[in-house]
Amino acid sequence: MPIDPAQVSLREITADTVVQVIKLSVAEHQKQFVAPNAVSLAQALFAPEAWYRAIWHGDEMVGFVMLEDESLLDPPPAHPGIGVWRFMIDLRFQGRGIGRAALQQVIDHVRAKGLVDTLELSYVPGPGCPEPFYLGLGFRHAGRLDEGEVILELPLRPAQVAAAGSPRSTSGIGSIDAP
Ligand SMILES: CC(C)(COP(=O)(O)OP(=O)(O)OC[C@H]1O[C@@H](n2cnc3c(N)ncnc32)[C@H](O)[C@@H]1OP(=O)(O)O)[C@@H](O)C(=O)NCCC(=O)NCCS
Repeated sequence: MPIDPAQVSLREITADTVVQVIKLSVAEHQKQFVAPNAVSLAQALFAPEAWYRAIWHGDEMVGFVMLEDESLLDPPPAHPGIGVWRFMIDLRFQGRGIGRAALQQVIDHVRAKGLVDTLELSYVPGPGCPEPFYLGLGFRHAGRLDEGEVILELPLRPAQVAAAGSPRSTSGIGSIDAP
């Protein structure tokens, strides 16, 4: 049953909720597309540029997102990039519009920072890969690969959105790693 996007929220992970995050999982055939959340959180420990949230639907935790946000580095580079590093919705909650609503909130978060022209990510190509999901949200092919992963980008500024198909502006940052 489709959900009300207003019920979807991105919340900080706490000592009380971290085990729940680790227990979230995707389908067996999807495990090639995203690292386990425990691995992502372990990487985040050593990556000051990691920005991560649990995805909730109402009072249920349903997913996890992690950005690579270079503006969080100290000091930040002159032109920080921001990319989606990890994104997943637990198998039990997929196919109800939660992923779309959550990623839209991530996009709004990045756009509000006003630091980058595009949001990038990459995916492992293959049957069942999330390409149609991202294209449905307005991402387009950047025409580049990163270690075999296909790079997509989303224009964040109105002029770019209107001129989709025009030469791209890169944030200079990549994206989701497969495990
Ligand atoms: C990809 C993923 C996040 C989508 O989350 P979701 O909550 O199931 O997606 P939604 O229900 O919001 O789907 C929105 C639209 O995308 C489509 N879609 C979602 N996943 C899709 C897939 N794998 N292939 C084709 N279409 C897909 C839906 O059919 C829906 O289309 P519609 O607008 O025509 O109805 C989720 O399937 C997932 O966690 N997959 C495994 C991990 C993964 O691949 N992460 C991305 C790493 S790059």
